Amino acid sequence: MKIIMLGAPGAGKGTQAKMIAKEYGIPHISTGDIFRANIKEGTELGKEAKKYMDAGQLVPDELTVKILLDRVAKDDCKNGYVLDGFPRTIPQAEVLDEALTKLGDRIDFAIDVDVPDENIVRRMGGRRACVTCGATYHIEHVPPKKEGICDTCGSELILRDDDKPETVSNRLKVYHEQTQPLIDFYSKKGVLKSVDGTVDMMDVFAAIKTILE
Ligand code: AP5
Ligand code: MG
Repeated sequence: MKIIMLGAPGAGKGTQAKMIAKEYGIPHISTGDIFRANIKEGTELGKEAKKYMDAGQLVPDELTVKILLDRVAKDDCKNGYVLDGFPRTIPQAEVLDEALTKLGDRIDFAIDVDVPDENIVRRMGGRRACVTCGATYHIEHVPPKKEGICDTCGSELILRDDDKPETVSNRLKVYHEQTQPLIDFYSKKGVLKSVDGTVDMMDVFAAIKTILE
């Protein structure tokens, strides 16, 4: 099963993608997580990506597309995957589409997690993320057992650099301009499904499971 998660920054794509990956035994692939891992390791890619991410801009397609295509070509992707944060532009979607078509394959579901902008800014300020394993928490909705420490791997939790209010509003603007058109793109392909992302995260997941099963 090949699934794409669509939705604004902070809509809960990562939260839901992790649950889907666990439930269906497929890898969760987040381009944002890949960039953050590179930033942490201080790679050239990380240095380049950080400039764009901290400004709330998209990392250029030239840098993003190759990373994603290399990742989905790995063995663990044979039975499918859930993409979180890719594609984010029409050109990215077209490249993915072409690559899949060459393999006689296609995306099965593009799931749009729908959350209005007003809710987003509130969510982001409360998010805490583990830089080591990528686990995500929220100080009110999903607090870690011990404040500031990841339940899964024991590392320190941080407020992402791009979760500052100024950057969040820029990310939302970029989302509406460059990523939202993908809703129409996948709707035309007949694979778009929408879920209400404002309800409790377990209820969002239940709605997604109904779609997938
Ligand atoms: P990325 O890491 O993908 O960030 P994003 O799309 O902005 O999305 P987020 O990770 O912020 O939110 P999410 O939807 O995953 O929400 P989450 O589950 O954490 O990308 C970061 C940057 O990298 C981009 O800005 C760009 O620069 C670059 N980039 C990445 N991919 C790229 C690409 N393909 N092309 C170009 N550039 C790219 O949830 C948010 C919070 O809400 C959490 O605290 C969570 O606990 C809480 N929450 C979740 N669900 C609920 C719920 N139902 N109720 C209450 N709280 C909830
Ligand atoms: Mg995410």
